[in-house]
Amino acid sequence: MRIFSGIQPTGRKHLGNYIGAIRQYVEGQDRGEAIYCIVDLHATTVAYEPAELRRFTYDTAAILLAAGLDPERCIFFRQGDVPEHPELCWLLASVTAWGDLNRMHQFKEKSAQQRELVSAGLFFYPVLQAADVLAYRADEVPVGDDQRQHVELMRDIAERFNARFGAGENVLVVPEHRIPEVGARIMDLQDPTARMSTTASSEQGALYILDERDVVASKIGSAVTDSGTEVRRGPDKPGISNLIEILSVVRGVEPERIEDEFDGQGYGAFKRTVAEAVVEYLAPTRERYAEIREDEDELERVLAAGTEKAHSIASETLADVREVMGVGPRRR
Ligand code: AMP
Ligand code: TRP
Repeated sequence: MRIFSGIQPTGRKHLGNYIGAIRQYVEGQDRGEAIYCIVDLHATTVAYEPAELRRFTYDTAAILLAAGLDPERCIFFRQGDVPEHPELCWLLASVTAWGDLNRMHQFKEKSAQQRELVSAGLFFYPVLQAADVLAYRADEVPVGDDQRQHVELMRDIAERFNARFGAGENVLVVPEHRIPEVGARIMDLQDPTARMSTTASSEQGALYILDERDVVASKIGSAVTDSGTEVRRGPDKPGISNLIEILSVVRGVEPERIEDEFDGQGYGAFKRTVAEAVVEYLAPTRERYAEIREDEDELERVLAAGTEKAHSIASETLADVREVMGVGPRRR
């Protein structure tokens, strides 16, 4: 079983990233051959500062290592270091439908946010993402709910590739998504009808993994709830539902258990419990972070070692892909 996922180097990762994705990356190391990359090439598809991109890449790498990625038990690297990703992206373009790319929600959202330029790269983003996964013939892709459509697309691309070029063989593996049942969509604390997001959420609406204890407590304490009093989930209670999901994941129990426990208690006591639990949940990562982030040479060494392993897998896939597509000389 091979697991692959990518994460953007946006520096400040939030509780949604942790619960929807990072937590699953760490668990993936026990379930199979886990491969994770920081997708710096994807980050160039929207307006960005080159110096910040390098800094954010280290920030994100340090957060993942602090959260428990172990370079001895997974392959951890930077996307831009492995040229097979953009190469496969181009080759897969031949079996990607323009109409499918035109239907991508994330493109619509992100293109609407751009002030100066909607780059062709942003439109092509999902094809590069497909290449990321398909280059490793991964079986499973742990992501949050917002990535569902991108994983659907990479499945279609892999199927179309095999049908077009495979001559009866599956040159590429059609991956499955792994979206957690609870916690795949953590909502903004100030606007619980919107997803918690690095770009769209306000400072109070997003809870960052590196937020200090008192900041975590105060953000949860001032989270928007509704006018009712009952601690239970429901479409009319997006704020409380979100906090119930968060506590459920943090404690590792079913959301129903949380509802039973707080039956008859008010929001105040409930929010204090959530705040304490989240503080404890994030503390180990935050505490390990500073030391790991400090040593950029060591971070580069870790990423370089990962690159070597990633490259050796991806180059084999690319040799097969080029062969069946008729690109380059025939292999003997
Ligand atoms: P990104 O920072 O956009 O690269 O996202 C990294 C991972 O976090 C992806 O797998 C997303 O699906 C996941 N993710 C982002 N926001 C949320 C959220 N609010 N709730 C759950 N998962 C999320
Ligand atoms: N698009 C993903 C996100 O915004 C990041 C990503 C890039 C990714 N390549 C990937 C996720 C491959 C899973 C697999 O979160």
